[in-house]
Amino acid sequence: MPKDTLTIRDNRTGKTYEIPIQDESIRAMDLRQIKSAEGDFGIVTYDPALLNTAVCRSSITFIDGDKSVLNYRGYPIEQLAEQSNFLEVAYLIVNGNLPSPKQYMKWESEITHHTMVHENVKKFMDGFWHDAHPMGILVGTVGALSTFYPGAKDIFNPDCRRRQSHRLIAKMPTLAAFAYRHSCGMPYAYPDNDLSYAGNFLNMMFKMTEVKYKPDPVLEKAIDVLFILHADHEQNCSTSAMRVVGSSQVDPFSAMAAAVAALYGPLHGGANEEVLKMLGEIGSVSKVPEFIKKVKNGEGRLMGFGHRVYKSYDPRARIIKHMAEQVFDVQGSSPMLEVARELERIALQDDYFVTRRLYPNIDFYSGLIYQSMGFPTSMYPVLFAIPRTAGWIAQWEELILDPEQKISRPRQLYSGAARREYVPLAQRAGARTPADSPRPG
Ligand code: CMC
Repeated sequence: MPKDTLTIRDNRTGKTYEIPIQDESIRAMDLRQIKSAEGDFGIVTYDPALLNTAVCRSSITFIDGDKSVLNYRGYPIEQLAEQSNFLEVAYLIVNGNLPSPKQYMKWESEITHHTMVHENVKKFMDGFWHDAHPMGILVGTVGALSTFYPGAKDIFNPDCRRRQSHRLIAKMPTLAAFAYRHSCGMPYAYPDNDLSYAGNFLNMMFKMTEVKYKPDPVLEKAIDVLFILHADHEQNCSTSAMRVVGSSQVDPFSAMAAAVAALYGPLHGGANEEVLKMLGEIGSVSKVPEFIKKVKNGEGRLMGFGHRVYKSYDPRARIIKHMAEQVFDVQGSSPMLEVARELERIALQDDYFVTRRLYPNIDFYSGLIYQSMGFPTSMYPVLFAIPRTAGWIAQWEELILDPEQKISRPRQLYSGAARREYVPLAQRAGARTPADSPRPG
């Protein structure tokens, strides 16, 4: 019976070490005993961007990138997208199990009754420049919520954590829609508690002068499904930001401002906008072969294709593709959809993409849906941030409750200058007169 250990021989010293293997991993701290001399710091692992380092144990999301599997708390994404709704999925992600009917009613009521924001938040928002990016506004306003709820600092109190979870899940659509309406100079539309989570968001985004906004059921369903698909995706960049900042034991609003900021970057929340730009540049189905040729020659990438984790069809992309067709039936088709379909058709048969295991990812069709529903491109990362709030909160709570976690503090390999002595400015090469020296203050 083979032992679950890894034997390491340090050829500098000739010493051999036996390191336990658990869950297909070794503990990085076990390597610290490997020293070239007594008093040495010991070996560290060098892993820029944490490509091969597990930073936590998590029971929230499971991904098998080779087999197109994405499960939240064990439930396949396909079943949740087809049979559940975003609020129930948010409950599942945050609490670990599907709710009973009674628990669901309570949860729905708690979220619905926290959708309003303090009037001062509106005033705060008014201070942003008229063309401020809604994602920039969101970073600022989510962080500002910590000053409205100073009690949120009591992070080891489960009741307090629960209250902040409700607030964040409930208020994100309100902040997001207000940020949008501010950026186009429209009056804010208040939440309508008669509507579903997705329906209310559409109401706050698009309500004009009508007394009661009635969301189109197909579009409401599409937003709800898109929210489900974006609710969590294990240790991605923004979730890592939430965990790293949360590990300092700051309140969840401040930690979430960091997560939203991480999502603002084009490499994370902005890829679907790049897909739309690419489709616009290609322009028509007849130009697709020429574009594919350029990509294969290394002139740019096929945006919305490929994934660090999925080396097969992103299961979310399959659901979104189907959703796109339903949305286009209501909103009218887009010539860009034909270009996207043709790109996918050719790429899935082409050796370049097949051998590199490049398949459509979640961003390939989502931008097209958002565009046809009337969302400006600046809102795409905001549309990602709303549902991801459930994942961020669940991951943050998991961190708070994990006895193995401490304040996040990675190591570095120092590559700068060795110790050197300070030389006063006046004595450095090129110094002129004492009058040239900077004055204090
Ligand atoms: N188009 C053309 N070639 C590609 C693409 C692409 N979209 N993606 C990867 N490749 C090639 C790449 O050039 C390399 O080829 P070679 O081996 O000849 O050098 C090979 O495939 C491996 O690429 P990689 O960059 O090492 O792969 P990665 O895992 O580091 O990158 C990725 C993953 C998502 C950054 C990349 O596939 C990409 O840039 N895709 C386009 C942008 C995009 O759609 N991003 C959204 C990702 S989904 C977001 C989410 O899940 O939240």
